[in-house]
Amino acid sequence: EPPASLESIPQPLPNAPTKGATTVTLRFPEGFLWGASTAAYQIEGAAAEDGRRPSIWDDFVHAGHARHGETGDVAADHYHRSASDLDLMADLGMTAYRFSIAWTRTMDDDGAVNQKGLDFYRRLADGLRERGIEPFATLYHFDLPRRLGERGGWLDRDTAYRLADHADLVSGALGDRIGHWMTVNELFVETFLGYATGDSPPGRESTGEAVAASHHMLLGHGLAAQAVRANGAGEVGIVTSFSPVRPATADPRDAEAARRIDGLVNRFYLDALFRGEYPADLMAHYADLRPGFTAVRDGDLDVISAPLDFLGLNYYFSRTVAASGRDLGPDWVETPLSTRVEAELGARDVVRAGETLTAIGWPVDPGGLTELLLRLRADYGDVPIYITENGLPLGDYVTPDGRVHDPERIEFLRRHLTALHAAVAAGVDVRGYLTWSLLDNFEWGSGYAPRFGLTFVDYGTQRRIPKDSFHWYREVIARNGL
Ligand code: NOJ
Repeated sequence: EPPASLESIPQPLPNAPTKGATTVTLRFPEGFLWGASTAAYQIEGAAAEDGRRPSIWDDFVHAGHARHGETGDVAADHYHRSASDLDLMADLGMTAYRFSIAWTRTMDDDGAVNQKGLDFYRRLADGLRERGIEPFATLYHFDLPRRLGERGGWLDRDTAYRLADHADLVSGALGDRIGHWMTVNELFVETFLGYATGDSPPGRESTGEAVAASHHMLLGHGLAAQAVRANGAGEVGIVTSFSPVRPATADPRDAEAARRIDGLVNRFYLDALFRGEYPADLMAHYADLRPGFTAVRDGDLDVISAPLDFLGLNYYFSRTVAASGRDLGPDWVETPLSTRVEAELGARDVVRAGETLTAIGWPVDPGGLTELLLRLRADYGDVPIYITENGLPLGDYVTPDGRVHDPERIEFLRRHLTALHAAVAAGVDVRGYLTWSLLDNFEWGSGYAPRFGLTFVDYGTQRRIPKDSFHWYREVIARNGL
């Protein structure tokens, strides 16, 4: 007989220690989702199987643009190992898994459906649901089909409409088993690395083109969101990476430079998504760039700013910014985040000399996550948020005891979860945390060297070895807190 009411079931006291576990000092809200994220090209491999078509990333890395000429041809071979990877997720106790659905698998060169590609993601979603893991699907994560790249990629407005076709196809086919959809991933990173610095495909070096590409990708987001909604497929969001931007010193020139970089990496996207306008100061700066703002047509910003069910937030680092051309003395050094794009805005990214950067040159700043979440609510309102990525790249290796010891990653995660909890305690509506990443994977132009996984991948044998951080995170999930 089921008990008459919930009240008749003895409930543990809030923050009461569970048997055999250490006392929980920071508990997350009930129903908070815990998980990890991946993206198709970074883990799947099987680059030429079951009708998969090439993307602009296949072409870029095959032309030798990734470290040591590495490619995602095999990656973590997840396409062939999804069943055992699902068991790994269940073993971790995850309640949410974010993955991307490769546009290169869902459609052929004419844009017609590729059933085998769709079937792969249908089986994956079913496998997740069988294990009680909520699927979070990203519709587009950097892997633009070559056929669209050849027609101008994100410089061609039509690409936005083609993204909506993919979103319609996939959400129509899988909307009964996937309840959380993210349209696009990290627009600033894709468009500025692809079109302004040339570090990603298509390897162009024009700020005006990057601005046009950003606008078209935002439009693609809006049109894709409409398609998912029309199919009644569930909740729709977008994934962005934002960074708090701080002036290096009290000099007003640094404050002004920091404001411009905040415009570049944060406000451009946030104002468009949540206010339906581009920030006036950046508009003025970009006004004479072509194609740039000539890409914006009447009505676009209404499509872009349609309400979202949630915001997916990737957080890796904060930025500290100084004005260009001023001698800061020996206390500060420039970081790899400083590019021509920052210089055009009269700014450079710096850190205090001696500060530890991650393996790919990013500062570590857990408090920046609290600050960012509070600022998002203050400036853009109370949209539900999922942390869709946060993690640390290391040069992990297997020790003679057969294990992978990554205390730095545990410390990184612990500090970021503490900072996240502070924002939750202050009332920010954060509904889940998904770390980057479930598995070591292909880190784009940096190849396989930076390892972000909770699970070590031995690329020679494809053996998976859960790292110490995996075991630690499993405890966090089990206790719903730290
Ligand atoms: C953001 C991207 O979405 C993901 O593809 C990448 O691997 C991680 N950040 C780490 O750089």
